[in-house]
Amino acid sequence: MSQIIVSGGKRLQGSVKISGSKNAALPILAATVLIDESVTIKNVPELRDVNTMLSILQRIGKKVSFEHGVVRIEPGDIIVGTVPYDLVGKMRASFNLFGPLVMACGWAKVGKPGGCNIGQRPVDYHIEGLKQLGIKITEEHGDVHGEIPDMFKSHIEYTLPFRSVGATEQLMTTAALMKGSKIVIKNAAKEPEIVDLQNFLNKAGARISGAGTDTIRIEGVEKLKGTEYRVIPDRIEAGTYLLAGVITRGTVIVEDVVPDHLTALLNALNMMGVKVEIGKNSVKVEASGKLKPVHVSAEPYPGFPTDLQPILTAVLTTVEGESVIEELVFENRFGYVDEINRMGAQIKVKDRRAYIKGIDKLSGTDINAPDIRAAAALVIAGMAADGETTVHNAGHIFRGYEKLREKFMALGAYLRVYPDEE
Ligand code: EPU
Repeated sequence: MSQIIVSGGKRLQGSVKISGSKNAALPILAATVLIDESVTIKNVPELRDVNTMLSILQRIGKKVSFEHGVVRIEPGDIIVGTVPYDLVGKMRASFNLFGPLVMACGWAKVGKPGGCNIGQRPVDYHIEGLKQLGIKITEEHGDVHGEIPDMFKSHIEYTLPFRSVGATEQLMTTAALMKGSKIVIKNAAKEPEIVDLQNFLNKAGARISGAGTDTIRIEGVEKLKGTEYRVIPDRIEAGTYLLAGVITRGTVIVEDVVPDHLTALLNALNMMGVKVEIGKNSVKVEASGKLKPVHVSAEPYPGFPTDLQPILTAVLTTVEGESVIEELVFENRFGYVDEINRMGAQIKVKDRRAYIKGIDKLSGTDINAPDIRAAAALVIAGMAADGETTVHNAGHIFRGYEKLREKFMALGAYLRVYPDEE
């Protein structure tokens, strides 16, 4: 089990370049299954989840290489329609391959993902939506089987019950190759990662519009062609470094970002009294004076991102007064609260709200990380604590943060990683 040991009390200072977005890269890589020609994807972060997706692509028959952030995917001789549970169980985003595999092979069998540490996370919206697209679906022995219909319906309209990111991506990608069909997805997720997927698919010849609004329209085409594409910057990684700057009352600049993608976070920081400067591709935060408590609700985009909720909460434990954080996306994303309370934080959770009473100083101790963003929250809490904080089970963090130790050390933090960072 990996550990990250953080020495507290160091004010972060300086600038950090942000990597490509994990949550944009994963669905784009899944969508390459639809393309029977060479595809090059740039600005792909070197992360455990990306490697899992690339292993699956290889397992189903693609030829894959990954060097210096560039993934090249070539068609193999055959493509296999099965993804076993050992790979889906490692990473929920593997289920994004289901629809594309049905379209590419005519059928697919993919293990149904189980629950995870932030909630039950079923795939019922994906399955119901795919059925509406006409895919014949059955479930057996923990696997989901899908079969392409003999004919696509000419017009399909489907309203998602919730603005699910994964289900929106699954339906958009699958519908892209439904030649002759016009598909309208309503109540779609509006995250920047959805827009990035649309841009990638359109560059490959798809006809999709509306991503970034709640209605996405797809005109199915017969074939997608090989292309080259650059993934957007990771807004969650950027937010994490900005919040690390704030918790240490330092000054941090994130570079190579799209500031518009960070609006909800920057609004919260403004309300807290953090000085925020927005550049063309950069954002600077300076947290020198006294900060103010806030009430923030984590919601689908453009709301405050659930992936930054634990990290903002960690910051608010050090801000005098009472802050309230509401979590409206996942039912169980406060799993880190008992751990951070072991550092002296005063957080009470009731229903989907955390009530945070700011204290003067957190104190370093041994804590356990339940998931990737919780691990990031606990690491930055350690930066603001007295003495040393040992985050156990910290390996989760390498699913989402490229060159984490190197980037934090360059900003003046001190942390050790055992065994070495992957
Ligand atoms: N949901 C269902 N049924 C479904 C799909 C979703 O009930 O069929 C529920 C989920 O359980 C959850 C809510 O709907 O309560 C939202 O889930 P969503 O589908 O939007 O999330 P996701 O696609 O599984 C992606 C990111 C997450 C991020 C969420 C929300 C990827 C690979 N993952 O997950 O990222 O938290 O959107 O923005 O894109 C992370 O990076 O740490 C992470 C967890």
